[in-house]
Amino acid sequence: MKVRLYSSAAQFSAACQNVRALGGTLGLVPTMGALHSGHMALMHEAKRLATHVAATIFVNPTQFAANEDFGQYPRTLDADMAKCEAAGVNLLFVPDVREMYAPGDSTRVRVSGVADVLCGAVRPGHFDGVATIVTKLFVLAGTCTAVFGKKDYQQLKVIERVASDLKLPIRVVAHPIVREPDGLAMSSRNAYLSAENRRRSCAISRGLSKAWRIFESGERDIDPILDCVRTELAIEHLQLQYAELADADTLELFGGQSRLSERALLAVAAYCDKTRLIDNVVLGEDLDPLQ
Ligand code: PAJ
Repeated sequence: MKVRLYSSAAQFSAACQNVRALGGTLGLVPTMGALHSGHMALMHEAKRLATHVAATIFVNPTQFAANEDFGQYPRTLDADMAKCEAAGVNLLFVPDVREMYAPGDSTRVRVSGVADVLCGAVRPGHFDGVATIVTKLFVLAGTCTAVFGKKDYQQLKVIERVASDLKLPIRVVAHPIVREPDGLAMSSRNAYLSAENRRRSCAISRGLSKAWRIFESGERDIDPILDCVRTELAIEHLQLQYAELADADTLELFGGQSRLSERALLAVAAYCDKTRLIDNVVLGEDLDPLQ
């Protein structure tokens, strides 16, 4: 069946309601496009969990700071549509900016706590933008199962809070990180990397894997675990923005002297030249990132 394309919020919302009116269930996969196998895995998971899948493609201006890559973010709509079609996506919502932020729009959704640390600390306002657009998409979609990737682990936690705190009729489902064969976490931003930088970027997943292995052998001190990441990044001259250990649910950071519990998020953000890359592993829960 052909994917049905919507640019009108009202028409997309009516189509979602119609799925339920006819006895179906809806799976929702919000994206910013430039679709890769990580996104497609989310679509397949949504297809498994619901009778109909709605994907959205919208490069959301409010989650980019003025100095960030909103203007150059890859936009590949024709290829994206073909991928959605092949994956059996039923509804595809591709609004323009004025459709989601009409003139005079001034309501923002702000999450505190989980949104304040890690990326929230270095990208002020970013998660307000994410929470706001995802809330709008949730309101338009209505009752559904929404699938998000653990690649953006903190984003997932922010969205779980939004759905729960605002009592939205949305089941949020997490999908594991999809990686390239050499370990690099798939990302639309990987398109910015030259062949040489693409190779250097593997230092991030290598560092996470080394950290994973010493944690599995019983290491519970913070510094040796963070050193695994710091060392691998230093070898390839990647610029570390942060490497942190945090409670995997609340995202409260583990300080230097504390010892880890049996489960902890290890999250990394680094620059390879001008390209900002993030990755993570939940120690005590996830498999070895390089497995
Ligand atoms: P985007 O970066 O396009 O990602 C869309 C979804 O795909 C997110 O849930 C993200 O976590 C997931 N994803 C991306 N790369 C992945 C990978 N390698 N493995 C598994 N999942 C992956 O995240 C956003 O867009 C936006 O912030 C959005 C939520 C759409 C709000 O604008």
